Amino acid sequence: MVEMNSRKAAIIGCGFVGSASAFSLMESHLFSEIVLIDADKDRAEGEALDISHGLPFSKPMQIYAGTYQDISDAAVVIVTAGAGQKPGETRLDLVKKNVAIFKSIIPEVAKYNRSGILLIVANPVDILTYVAKQLSGYPSNRVFGSGTVLDTARLKYMLGEHLGVDSRSIHAFIIGEHGDSEIAAWSSANVSGVPLFKFCNMRGHFHEEETSRRIAEEVKNSAYEIIKRKKATYYGIAMSVKRICEAIVRDEKSILPVSSIQNSEKINGVALSMPAIVGKHGVEGQVPIELSDEERAALQRSADTLKAVLNDVLE
Ligand code: LAC
Repeated sequence: MVEMNSRKAAIIGCGFVGSASAFSLMESHLFSEIVLIDADKDRAEGEALDISHGLPFSKPMQIYAGTYQDISDAAVVIVTAGAGQKPGETRLDLVKKNVAIFKSIIPEVAKYNRSGILLIVANPVDILTYVAKQLSGYPSNRVFGSGTVLDTARLKYMLGEHLGVDSRSIHAFIIGEHGDSEIAAWSSANVSGVPLFKFCNMRGHFHEEETSRRIAEEVKNSAYEIIKRKKATYYGIAMSVKRICEAIVRDEKSILPVSSIQNSEKINGVALSMPAIVGKHGVEGQVPIELSDEERAALQRSADTLKAVLNDVLE
């Protein structure tokens, strides 16, 4: 049995998302070793060299292009490989291409790395998380996706701007699919314990229904807006990857809306985002936040949408 190195990560896929994640992780000092793997070896080597040249301004660590053998002791394996959304495409449009890519990658990961955490970032992340769990044979706590961690950050950012308050003091979640059927869980949203809509009134904002609908739409359409302008999104997701790795490496037991396989009575056999406790064992527990009837129905629709795609992919 290979002894795991809790300060070692591997990134599979060195496109915009993989390389921005590598940079963000280097800056975070969380890992002392990062292995980069890409189907295009030159690309992985180029990224590793470029990032390494900044190390004299950071802290010592090893970052290099490697092979699947090199990931055997990596505590976290981050999978960003796959086609990205093009303007006009939804995340679900990528499913066939990226499932095929996962069928070649995940068995290789599982062959060399038996006890690390698989963090899925490629899209459609919920479908690929489920597929990665099946292909790896890992227990479900060790396979999860970045899910709506980024959408939740976008929500907090926009609410923070709107209300003139630090986005970190806002507690609100986007749940469900990382995509078009996602849900803003307004009924549990609060600013340091003050119910969100009450806080809006305190700050002189009285059109909370209309504004919350607009902000939820803007969050949902964020990736489309960015892709329209710069063809890809990568910094926001890279910082989300860093935040999730921080919770794992530091065993923080932080509550993050990662995408994991659901096992409730109504929603099961599908991966989607719900707040979960994240620590060194990966997803260590689910946090079933209170939802309104409307939110619960929307979550069920989101799960049904994902399940229909999964049935299509897995047949
Ligand atoms: C986004 C990509 C990561 O939402 O799906 O920016």
